[in-house]
Amino acid sequence: MCYAIPGKIEKIENNTVIVDYFGEKRKALNELAEINIGDYIYAQGGFVVSKISASEAQSILSVWKETFFELQEVDLRLSRLSLSGNDADKRLLGVLDKASQSRQLSRDELLYLLGLKDKKGFELLFKTANFLRQKNFKNSCCVHGIIEISNHCRQGCQYCGISYHNKDLRRYRLTKDEILEAAREAVEVYGFKSLVLQSGEDPGYSVDELADIVKRIKEKFPSLLFISFGEIGVEGLEKIYQAGARGLLMRFETSNPKLYQQVHPGMTLESRLVHLRKAHDMGYLILTGGLIGLPGQSKEDILDDIFLAKELHAEMFSFGPFIPHPNTPFSGIKPPQEDEVFKVLAVARIIDNHQAKILVTTALETLSPDAARNGLSSGANSLMLNVTPLDYRPFYSIYPQRAHQSEDISTQIESTVSLLRSLGRAPTDLEGI
Ligand code: 5AD
Repeated sequence: MCYAIPGKIEKIENNTVIVDYFGEKRKALNELAEINIGDYIYAQGGFVVSKISASEAQSILSVWKETFFELQEVDLRLSRLSLSGNDADKRLLGVLDKASQSRQLSRDELLYLLGLKDKKGFELLFKTANFLRQKNFKNSCCVHGIIEISNHCRQGCQYCGISYHNKDLRRYRLTKDEILEAAREAVEVYGFKSLVLQSGEDPGYSVDELADIVKRIKEKFPSLLFISFGEIGVEGLEKIYQAGARGLLMRFETSNPKLYQQVHPGMTLESRLVHLRKAHDMGYLILTGGLIGLPGQSKEDILDDIFLAKELHAEMFSFGPFIPHPNTPFSGIKPPQEDEVFKVLAVARIIDNHQAKILVTTALETLSPDAARNGLSSGANSLMLNVTPLDYRPFYSIYPQRAHQSEDISTQIESTVSLLRSLGRAPTDLEGI
């Protein structure tokens, strides 16, 4: 199984290359030493990740060629939008028609969409978002692998099951060798081109050690590496960028500073935003977003969250539902309904038509077995598979009963591929020029 289609280098301008995929041209940044016109490469997130031999590329491409255009057609058919002749509310049709033409909606209109209450209304909103996703991103769906390297955490986020509130949790920290082995398996055995390394805020690993892990993975297992270790400081971000990481996954959780402080004792939104902004300045790709369903969070807050993610130059939005964990102060708070989450994905797609990918989070998948399919049909175009060694997965318990917790990697890949195929999506990550 591969998560990217090999492309052929057509043009090289300084560190930018133009890559051809079945006649479609894409742009990517190249940091590999030896790249020539005519070479075949894999690219992810706008970066050239690795070079592959012409014979290997051609055999993979011959398999893809049959399905590539077929999948695009299925997607096009499933994402068709017809608002006319619909007996839905006139205001709703007017707003969605405007959105479908990629015209900017007013704040009032966006709040109106977030506040929709009837099922028929949501469905039209989701369809409009899916139409915009297809129009701007075609059928590509990017699939990252995530390795949860440690569940130690010094923070007390009130909702989080690996925070210091959870006294009953068995804590683990993968050794360097275990991390390298997990990365090797993901890249060499399962073909992942992009990995996220995640942990709680764990002082047990120094920044230098984390940088060394990143460097060793980059050297041995070519991939686009994202880090998600919490607030490691601007200098820490710099060191790890130098070591080869090119993405930062860090949610700001909520854009409301007061709510932020209530929910994250001893932390500030400001500090989080400094990390995100500096990381972007350094060249990191930014994956960010927030939690949906925090106590006291309003529709206005959620809308501000989407705008903040955009302002932070998110290349991928990560918005997921809060799910209560029994050993945290928020144990008694109800999670949001899944439709509330799809609404956020759909409105995010309307606000950001073509810049950001939108992730179906594992938390959303945890709410219902159909959530991945429905999320991908509401504007989302990205998934994350868990490639943490199975023995450790139950202990990365940010919330209970996480989806895919006990599924091995092959099982997750099989179900992902069949889901994507049924929707006409290709597990690729192709950046437009
Ligand atoms: N429900 C949903 N998401 C959670 N996270 C932490 N705890 C929970 C929970 N109870 C999310 C946070 C964090 C990410 C790693 O996990 O948003 O950014």
